[in-house]
Amino acid sequence: MRVGLLTGGGDCPGLNAVIRAVVRKGERRYGDTLVGFEDGWRGVLDGATMPLDIERCRGILPRGGTILGTSRTNPYKVEGGPEKALEVLRAERIDALVAIGGDDTLGVAHKLGGAGVAVVGVPKTIDNDLSATEVTFGFDTAVQIASDAIDRLHTTAESHDRVMVVEVMGRHAGWIATHAGIAGGAAEILVPEEPFDPDEVAQRLKARHDRGRYASIVVVAEGAAFKEGTMVTQENAPLDAFGHVRLGGIANVVAKEIEARTGFETRVTILGHIQRGGTPTAFDRILATRFGIAAIDAVHDGAFGQMVALRAGEIVRVPLGDAVGTVKTVDPDLYHGVAKVFSG
Ligand code: F6P
Repeated sequence: MRVGLLTGGGDCPGLNAVIRAVVRKGERRYGDTLVGFEDGWRGVLDGATMPLDIERCRGILPRGGTILGTSRTNPYKVEGGPEKALEVLRAERIDALVAIGGDDTLGVAHKLGGAGVAVVGVPKTIDNDLSATEVTFGFDTAVQIASDAIDRLHTTAESHDRVMVVEVMGRHAGWIATHAGIAGGAAEILVPEEPFDPDEVAQRLKARHDRGRYASIVVVAEGAAFKEGTMVTQENAPLDAFGHVRLGGIANVVAKEIEARTGFETRVTILGHIQRGGTPTAFDRILATRFGIAAIDAVHDGAFGQMVALRAGEIVRVPLGDAVGTVKTVDPDLYHGVAKVFSG
């Protein structure tokens, strides 16, 4: 078979591990020809391809990013985009397409699947907010990077008796904030799912410092919101092709509010794209490899319109329609039952 591959949306540690696994099993076990589309759906619209074989994939397992490149191109926002995509896939004689991405990329895959494209999805996002899978690859790496950063911030916070506000990614869901906050011993974890009141945050920090603590870590997800406010967006930032505003900077506002209410010296660290960069953890390499193998197996089983997913430790297939459109928010038991125990 001629099998196409693309990676879309934000880059994510483990993408290359998926590509390598699909290529390895596709070429060696099934005798496939693998065709990479450059920069996500942009490559499908423009017919920008690159040959993929085992040789090309040597050494990419521990490398972050994606050798295919990525973009947030949305064919459904381009005049004649879906028709163009179908035409290019036909011209390239693509029998099946493996789309590796998050909600946006897989949403397009789902729609093109409805238009007749033989597509299999692989779930990717550091945010871990994709439905129908318990975990996406990239999340573990992001949490590790964030909790390493928090460990470092603890020592400087303690030396200066400061509050350190750490902003992590998480547009609609606070998975990274909650996991890294628990792992890093944060005093406060602010997530999009639970709009927060700065007065209450300040009160809890004061109570904690009254009991003899002089330093606190506050982890805030970029998409967190004040109870009666809106999200902080970067000024004049354009919407992307999927209608998302660019986030970033809420930590500055949170820090100002905390300092004003408590008088505690407060500093800000915004981790930003550091969370997405660099080498994937062993967990993510293994998960991404398992997903890649399962995706090429799904192609050869004719399981189109499906996404590979992790459930109870097993790799399963789920309809793409179940994965897209609904954000998987943080488990309330984890947030309220575990993370909140360490607050105040
Ligand atoms: O991949 C998802 C994500 O990490 C979000 O948490 C974040 O808002 C977004 O990517 C930022 O991506 P970029 O700056 O690359 O558009």
